[in-house]
Amino acid sequence: MTTLITGGAGFIGSYLAQLLVEEGERPILLDPAPVHGALIDIRDRFEYVQSSLGNLSVVLNIIKKYSIDRIFHLGGMLSAPSDENPWAAFDANVTGTYNVLEAARLGGVKQVIFSSTIAVYGKDLPSTPVDDATIQRPTSMYGSTKVFCELLGRFYARKFDLDFRGVRIPSVVGPGAKTAHMSIYNCWAIEEALKGQPYKLLCEPETRCPVIYFKDAGRALWLLAMAERSQIKTMIYNLAGIVPSFSAEDLVALIRDRIPEARLTFNPDPATVELLRELGSLILDDECARSEWGWEIAYPFAEMVDDFIKEFEEHTSWYV
Ligand SMILES: NC(=O)c1ccc[n+]([C@@H]2O[C@H](COP(=O)([O-])OP(=O)(O)OC[C@H]3O[C@@H](n4cnc5c(N)ncnc54)[C@H](O)[C@@H]3O)[C@@H](O)[C@H]2O)c1
Repeated sequence: MTTLITGGAGFIGSYLAQLLVEEGERPILLDPAPVHGALIDIRDRFEYVQSSLGNLSVVLNIIKKYSIDRIFHLGGMLSAPSDENPWAAFDANVTGTYNVLEAARLGGVKQVIFSSTIAVYGKDLPSTPVDDATIQRPTSMYGSTKVFCELLGRFYARKFDLDFRGVRIPSVVGPGAKTAHMSIYNCWAIEEALKGQPYKLLCEPETRCPVIYFKDAGRALWLLAMAERSQIKTMIYNLAGIVPSFSAEDLVALIRDRIPEARLTFNPDPATVELLRELGSLILDDECARSEWGWEIAYPFAEMVDDFIKEFEEHTSWYV
């Protein structure tokens, strides 16, 4: 099995690359960014193509050159950058995913695993838990591009029998996250405390939001790919992350317990608070992922914070 990871130098992609290397694979990584962070330590154990998904021939040439059987498609732009530059987000997320699917079809790739997001949910949400049948009406550019890509993948599955699967990932927590977004306080409160720096959380103490540890996000993609095709009915699955969700105040208390010198304060920003209010009320149901391919998180709240601290202390140079 030869695997391509698009966005392989990213937060989740580089962890997934480590997982594949541990499994004995030699993955191919595609990313416009240079090799950095954790990848440097395993540089001789993967192939790297520093390029964009923006050109179909680039993707097709990689598939042919390396005889790719499976693609983990993670490359693209996240929520805040997509809202700032929706035109670039269209190219990276929509055209990029079209290029991946079309190159997969032309190049005979068997399986494409897609990283979608809980940001596909937006307006008109029910007060009951959001499951895989809940209406998807995002008002963000990011969410809209992901809904389209989910549907495009379903089309390729029906029309061309591509084994397309995906997960809707909640906000990912882990060391080394660089892009600011509304729920980034979950990462930066821990990381700044570890660096001995003061940090102001822009949310309210009672704010909650669905999160998942980066190791669980990477492992979910891997487990989904490993499941027998006959088990896959729903095709694209919600991941609920850590349930019940914890408040920002709970997080601060746990960090102070582990790092007593942590200097954390709240400085709520009205726009962030408003965005988080909608997200925080989201209760996700991931029963389909549990029943169809045995999904379960390995890192609940305290385990996540403890592993984050250990990971950062053991590999500080990867993350700063
Ligand atoms: N981080 C989260 O909280 C989160 C939550 C839900 C879903 N996701 C999804 O997971 C995937 C990975 O996210 P991440 O957290 O690792 O983000 P990230 O920004 O760290 O990684 C994305 C990678 O994609 C690369 N990229 C950007 N444009 C590209 C292009 N045109 N061609 C090829 N690569 C390109 C970037 O250089 C980056 O390395 C994304 O598809 C994202 O939408 C992330």
